[in-house]
Amino acid sequence: MPKEKIVVVDDDEYMREGLVETLDSPEFSVVSFDNAAAALDEISDGSASILLTDLRMPEMDGMELLAQVKRLDPKLPVVMMTAFATIETAVEAMKKGAFDYIMKPFKAEEIDVVVTKALEYRRLVAENEYLRKELGKKFSLSDFIGDCAEMKGLFEKIRQIAPSTATVFIRGESGTGKELVARAIHSQSPRRDKPMVRVNCAALSAGVLESELFGHERGAFTGADKRRIGRFEMADGGTIFLDEVSEMDLALQGKLLRVLQEKEFERVGSSETISANVRILASSNRDMEKAIEEGSFRQDLYYRLNVVNVELIPLRRRKGDIRALVKHFIEKYNREEGSRVKGISDEALAMLENYDWPGNVRELENIIERAIVLGTGERIETGNISAGLEKVPGRPQEKGAATFEPRPLEDVEREHVMLMLSYNQDHRQQTAQALGISERSLRDRLNRWREAGLIE
Ligand SMILES: Nc1ncnc2c1ncn2[C@@H]1O[C@H](COP(=O)(O)OP(=O)(O)OP(=O)(O)O)[C@@H](O)[C@H]1O
Ligand SMILES: [Mg+2]
Repeated sequence: MPKEKIVVVDDDEYMREGLVETLDSPEFSVVSFDNAAAALDEISDGSASILLTDLRMPEMDGMELLAQVKRLDPKLPVVMMTAFATIETAVEAMKKGAFDYIMKPFKAEEIDVVVTKALEYRRLVAENEYLRKELGKKFSLSDFIGDCAEMKGLFEKIRQIAPSTATVFIRGESGTGKELVARAIHSQSPRRDKPMVRVNCAALSAGVLESELFGHERGAFTGADKRRIGRFEMADGGTIFLDEVSEMDLALQGKLLRVLQEKEFERVGSSETISANVRILASSNRDMEKAIEEGSFRQDLYYRLNVVNVELIPLRRRKGDIRALVKHFIEKYNREEGSRVKGISDEALAMLENYDWPGNVRELENIIERAIVLGTGERIETGNISAGLEKVPGRPQEKGAATFEPRPLEDVEREHVMLMLSYNQDHRQQTAQALGISERSLRDRLNRWREAGLIE
């Protein structure tokens, strides 16, 4: 294994020699410098594992060096070495991102402990980064199948909205690919290296969901024996996906609304306000207008969530995609099961294309998976799939199934304007400029929509 490189900066020659002597070992190589500029040069190639620096030095001091390192190699742990008189500066350095500080004079064991800790930290960071990359790899846009005009339009829309922080509401029947849309948006956004945290709002009771979302303090309720970080905090810098958000209870909807408005929340049982930089995606397979009418979903929250609306059409209305989906799932399950199914017979494909798909793409995926796991032949035949199709009676076919949803131009315009507003962080002048209209014209539109109850 290559040695870990420790870079030491101190204008005091005696200190430098002492450190080299203490730390030099089969595990570590130590390089030392009497000035910060030379040390910066040394770490610029990313080969250093730790930087130990004196705080007070002529020319560039430790704080300035720290700031430069944060730009050059933000993951490099920096340890400040300081005399008692400058302890406050050391605390300041920690705030600015130093890994730790150590007070002079120190014993060999003390510096050993700090160095070991810093190395451990660096390994963890590297490991996390690796894991995140691996996780990211799992989703690839090429796994998102759709050749019909609507799906192509959807991919284009995803591409457009992904880079912004706009809140997106994803609608569609069960199994149409809502979660896939959320992953696609996150993976194409600048937040892709940060986590996307999913919360299934339908699966948890109101109380549990609240502490799941916002975290709780120790002792906040019976059984809360440890402080717990919520999903919003976990998603900091990344994306949170509120799956089945329509199932959230009304009281919690109010709390969520506040988070959306103020970007702040409190852990359960705490009065400390926490802010998190999180992009919000939400989904539902319910008719939201109806839920609002019935009073089970807050209208103001819906407007906040529905800045951009993405709608997935049911599979029965895009049967032209069935062939490509079948091919995709055959390849997927061949890989997973180590089988060698080559394709599907024309009769079997026709059978799939005549079916109504109440469970949408998920149902189709399950049927292909079962056919591959249980099948023995080279091709999928009608016999491999008919059992699955019979279990769920098809609905009456929609005649001449419309493949295009007519929409009023004004809806499209409103959606675009709201997206641009959100993109420009509600800055009206910038938004108007980007839209090529006057500020006044933007204001008139917003007023009109607000009066009509179309926006908040
Ligand atoms: N266009 C597609 N291309 C490839 N796979 C798809 C597509 N749409 C859906 N799938 C697959 O179908 C399954 C269901 O998709 P997903 O979980 O995204 O649906 P959903 O809309 O969130 O469903 P639910 O409402 O039941 O949660 C997943 O395994 C997903 O990978
Ligand atoms: Mg889902």
